[in-house]
Amino acid sequence: MCGIVGYIGDKLAQPILLNGLKRLEYRGYDSAGMVTYLPVKNSLSIRKLPGKVRVLEALLKKKPLSGNLGISHTRWSTHGEPNQVNAHPHLDCKNEIAIVHNGIIENYAVLKAQLIKEKHKFISQTDTEVIVHLIEKFYKDCSLENAVRQAISKLEGSFAIGVISRREPDKLIGVRCGSPLIVGVGKDENFLASDVPALLDATKEVIFLEENEMAVLSKDKIEITSFSGVPVKMSPVTVSWDVSQAQKGGFTHFMLKEINEQPAVLENMLNQRILKDRPEVFFDQLKISREEIFAVKNITVVACGTAYHAGLCGKYILEELCKISVSVDLSSEFRYRNPLVDKDTLIIAISQSGETADTLAAVREAKKKEAKILAVCNVLGSSLTREADGVIYTNAGPEIGVASTKAYTAQLSVLYLLAIYIADIRKTLDTNTKIGLINTLKTIPRLQEKILKNQKEITAIAQRHHHFGSFLFLGRHINFPSALEGALKLKEISYIPAEGYAAGEMKHGPIALIDEYRAVVCVAPHSKVYEKMISNIQEIHSRRGKIIAIASEGDEKIKELTREVIYIPQVDELFSPLITVLPMQLLAYDISVKRGCDVDQPRNLAKSVTVE
Ligand code: M6R
Repeated sequence: MCGIVGYIGDKLAQPILLNGLKRLEYRGYDSAGMVTYLPVKNSLSIRKLPGKVRVLEALLKKKPLSGNLGISHTRWSTHGEPNQVNAHPHLDCKNEIAIVHNGIIENYAVLKAQLIKEKHKFISQTDTEVIVHLIEKFYKDCSLENAVRQAISKLEGSFAIGVISRREPDKLIGVRCGSPLIVGVGKDENFLASDVPALLDATKEVIFLEENEMAVLSKDKIEITSFSGVPVKMSPVTVSWDVSQAQKGGFTHFMLKEINEQPAVLENMLNQRILKDRPEVFFDQLKISREEIFAVKNITVVACGTAYHAGLCGKYILEELCKISVSVDLSSEFRYRNPLVDKDTLIIAISQSGETADTLAAVREAKKKEAKILAVCNVLGSSLTREADGVIYTNAGPEIGVASTKAYTAQLSVLYLLAIYIADIRKTLDTNTKIGLINTLKTIPRLQEKILKNQKEITAIAQRHHHFGSFLFLGRHINFPSALEGALKLKEISYIPAEGYAAGEMKHGPIALIDEYRAVVCVAPHSKVYEKMISNIQEIHSRRGKIIAIASEGDEKIKELTREVIYIPQVDELFSPLITVLPMQLLAYDISVKRGCDVDQPRNLAKSVTVE
């Protein structure tokens, strides 16, 4: 949450910072701001406003900032409402030091009271402002980095910060403690950013700061030290993402682009993870041996939001193919309940961003109990990938839309492949079945494309239903998690209350909701629970609920119960979540557009939830 960009070099800082902010807006969009150093006046010049980066951009058009050193910020507010005063950057009393911050300072109230006693003048309600006053306090006869070091030793909580000072305008300082920060390596210029997409136009060489590290950048030098000042060996990484992946590419919204990328994401995954010459799954960075996997007695998945729904599907897949007991926990619950995991447990931590605070905390908890940690993650070098024993990258490319779509498909794909891999080790699959599963998986991208070609039909259904005040999503067995995901997609981008339920639970409560004002999406492809779904649909029909059915091509029976049917290609039930989720993503997207909502940046949300 919150995005930071910093620049030091020979170029004008403003366009680089602004461009970077636009790419980080998915991290928060309550307010935006920028500060640069103006050598002629030896001053820090600041522009900040509530609202999105485009509001800041408009201001900068009227009142541009010059200078070759600067930091900028897009905010997801925690402390203090999103107004101009609370927007970052924040300055010290003498307007000498500027700071941008991502995270939460838990002991800010105590620090603030103390600093006020020492005559520091606070103007905002933020926790961030204490950091800049603390730096000011220590910035007497020492370097900026020394003052920053002393200041951060007083902080409790999580923070990534960028700092500049007009007293030392040849320095840009970045600190990482609990929130992500990367250094971009340039020629005669260097950068700071919260995430890779911010830097893709400028450089592909990045250094992922580790926990408790500080970077001191000048235009031609990078120094990284631990908080105690010990130099750290730098390991720059070349990122494979390219600029076009972080652009809309002709689509109206990132979400629509990302929905349409799903067949390619799956296809790439299969090409990368299945050997060319034989039907074997392989993972290059698993770092957990076959022997260790063989020894595992149970699996626990930890994740949040959409990744949690992928994990729920994973339970069906792993238990079916590997005959091993799998439990799935919301990371935020797992971390506080003294979970029963031990050295015989494999933890699968699923996260698009790899920075979700609760998932990281869950992983740390499991590590204390000696469980093996396998991260399923999309972002190279993210905290989760560095804390886990092994990693399977989902390689879906940057996902910018706040609502997760292609990352979900990629997470599901990894779980299918992982299940085949583990089943092989545990000898729970015969070769022919394994070949059959791999061959079926290979057909899925084409089936997904078929659905994407049908968007017009879904748009028409959205047109007829976007005014409904609430939705229920029902599914059974492996499509129960699909129903949960469909409901999450709709509520987060259209603000329509939507609930996902296991259809078998309908009579235990939700049926009371059904009347002619209730839209009910029923995930009912051909499967062993199809007849059960039909019974549910009949019950909803007789109570005049407005049914939207997702059914297999050729299913005429369902037409008798509703005229709103989205047909999907037939596929083996085990793989159906890779298909059924697409129409629900499109439906949510179209309804959100029809209601005039901000599809890519829904209110109150941020893509990476880096605070609890
Ligand atoms: O980065 P992560 O996968 O760990 O994020 C988890 C959730 O915050 C995320 O899936 C969220 O629920 C999305 N907005 C769903 O579309």
